[in-house]
Amino acid sequence: MNLIEARRVSKRFVRKPDLAAKIAGMLGAPVKQAVVHALDHVDLSVAPGEVVGLVGESGSGKSTLGRIVAGLQDASDGEVMFEGKDRRTLDADARKRAYLAVQMVFQDPMSSLNPRLRIADIIGEAPLFHGVVGRAEARSYVSEMMNTVGLNPAYAERYPHQFSGGQRARIGIARALAVKPRMIVADEAIAALDASIQAQVINLFMKLRTDFDLAYLFISHDLGVVQHIADRVAILYLGRVVEFAAAEKVLATPNHPYSQALLANMPRVETGKHAFAPLEGEIPSPLDPPRGCHFHPRCPHAMPRCSEEVPPLKEIAPGWMSACHLNDRA
Ligand SMILES: Nc1ncnc2c1ncn2[C@@H]1O[C@H](COP(=O)(O)OP(=O)(O)OP(=O)(O)O)[C@@H](O)[C@H]1O
Ligand code: SF4
Ligand SMILES: [Mg+2]
Repeated sequence: MNLIEARRVSKRFVRKPDLAAKIAGMLGAPVKQAVVHALDHVDLSVAPGEVVGLVGESGSGKSTLGRIVAGLQDASDGEVMFEGKDRRTLDADARKRAYLAVQMVFQDPMSSLNPRLRIADIIGEAPLFHGVVGRAEARSYVSEMMNTVGLNPAYAERYPHQFSGGQRARIGIARALAVKPRMIVADEAIAALDASIQAQVINLFMKLRTDFDLAYLFISHDLGVVQHIADRVAILYLGRVVEFAAAEKVLATPNHPYSQALLANMPRVETGKHAFAPLEGEIPSPLDPPRGCHFHPRCPHAMPRCSEEVPPLKEIAPGWMSACHLNDRA
């Protein structure tokens, strides 16, 4: 059974009218609401202990999907199942456990860690509040968590600004881990770090995976970052999953033209050559996404049908999903 499954999840944001639109409205002009389709019927699953990489350009909806999966934001449509059940239908106790089971780690620990709290409180607050530990064991539990993520427990009384970027990333991870989650949504969790520190934090994520049987939704705009750690990779383009398959498939023989373009943009150490034509053009605005296949204005294989019909995400081989009309050709 899947640990987490997003089913037909959509998210729309209504942008507030800007000043010009407000003035036009006051003068009697019709004001059109700007609706951002951040996610459009997204299906995605993560099995217990599995690492799923979520890759896409800026604005493709990665963080929105991550926040919905972690329960920090509600979907406009569709549902998120935890162990096969819609979390909203669970009784209060089970619902609380289901939400605690999915924790989020953010890109910029400086803005996600309260600068006025000591590390002991940052890590210890939630487990105490949710009854994961009692007050008597709270201090030793914080020490244990700090040891687990490679921080010296002697620094528990310090504040976030007294740590390096890599250490702050570890504090964010310890805070997430402290409520004993089954899964971590890591949203660009290493993007702000130096390359050598990135490798250390990835190693920590992978050690925690083995030690605690943790699953991950590992969000990155960089295919190169997820290639070493993900079991499966989902490629997101303008709010739609365009390909979802085993990492070795997506990285070696991607099916979707957008995945091919992403891969082509990834520098190859072995050959120094690009395997496919590089990606051209800007990502279109999610305020006004192209009709049909969202990728058609940039796709080198676009056919007339592509600007009319949305290609559904279909299984093209066992466990390999892709959303491209080219797969219908015999
Ligand atoms: N609270 C919000 N209000 C209005 N629009 C939003 C809101 N949150 C996200 N969006 C819009 O939804 C779309 C998807 O945003 P999201 O942050 O999920 O993308 P992302 O893939 O995480 O991008 P990045 O790589 O830059 O982090 C964007 O167009 C964004 O502007
Ligand atoms: S459906 Fe058409 S436009 Fe979209 S990726 Fe496939 S060939 Fe390209
Ligand atoms: Mg984001």
